[in-house]
Amino acid sequence: MRLEEITRSVDTLPAMGGAALRVLALIEDAQASAARIEKALREDPGVTANLLRLANSAYFGIPSRIGSLRQAVSLLGLRRVTQMVVAACAAAVLQRPVEGYDLPAGELWRHSLAVSVAAEGLVRELGIGAGEEIFTAALLHDVGKIVLGRFVCEEMARIEAALGRGLTFEEAETAALGVDHAAVGADLLARWALPADIVYAVRWHHDPDRAPASHPMLDVVHVANVLCRMIGIGLGREGLQTEPSETVTRRLGVGTGHLERVASRTLQWANELAQALAA
Ligand SMILES: [Fe+2]
Ligand SMILES: [Fe+2]
Repeated sequence: MRLEEITRSVDTLPAMGGAALRVLALIEDAQASAARIEKALREDPGVTANLLRLANSAYFGIPSRIGSLRQAVSLLGLRRVTQMVVAACAAAVLQRPVEGYDLPAGELWRHSLAVSVAAEGLVRELGIGAGEEIFTAALLHDVGKIVLGRFVCEEMARIEAALGRGLTFEEAETAALGVDHAAVGADLLARWALPADIVYAVRWHHDPDRAPASHPMLDVVHVANVLCRMIGIGLGREGLQTEPSETVTRRLGVGTGHLERVASRTLQWANELAQALAA
């Protein structure tokens, strides 16, 4: 019953923004160009403004001032600019307060940016490939909380009871609602027609050991999320988590030293990016 209601509410959720979807469709398009992105963004001047703020943030490391979308594409590349468009559109959705998870306004956004930065940091630190869209997968990993928050609120007594029995927050969601925020998020992103590896990484980010197959993008998002929960960014009701999956850390070859180095940079960069979009 609940599950049906939740699935229905995914349909009524305001889309992340037509601009993001139009630009995402260009990822797979061999003809994609700055001109086509400009056309896709024409009706959303706010997105272009946010995109330029992001492009000029220190995280992306361009020393000269970027003043136009064309310039951003020529300096950062089409793929990076596409990721920024998605981030600029996702900001509006993820900056809201999330009831049920005890996340005040902006906290899920800060957590999402931190997981993106940590994921890219891990990829660099380990010298591995995890898919070009790792930034976007990490940014959207908890988007299901936006949908599920209201239901978590309504069923808080059952969730608390499940937590009291020693279940993790995600297990408690499933026990009380029949579904967790990872499954709802994956469902939502699949409806938005995001690439399959992003949907897969979001679906299994809390439970990579139960995923039908291993995938480097999933592994990295999982570890980056746990890392941000270890250092306390965007915890809300989920609380601290101290251990990523052992199978995943072994598969990635990630050790404490790697985690420490990535963690020390994550906080700074996440704040920097959050400020770029709050300006
Ligand atoms: Fe999550
Ligand atoms: Fe998370």
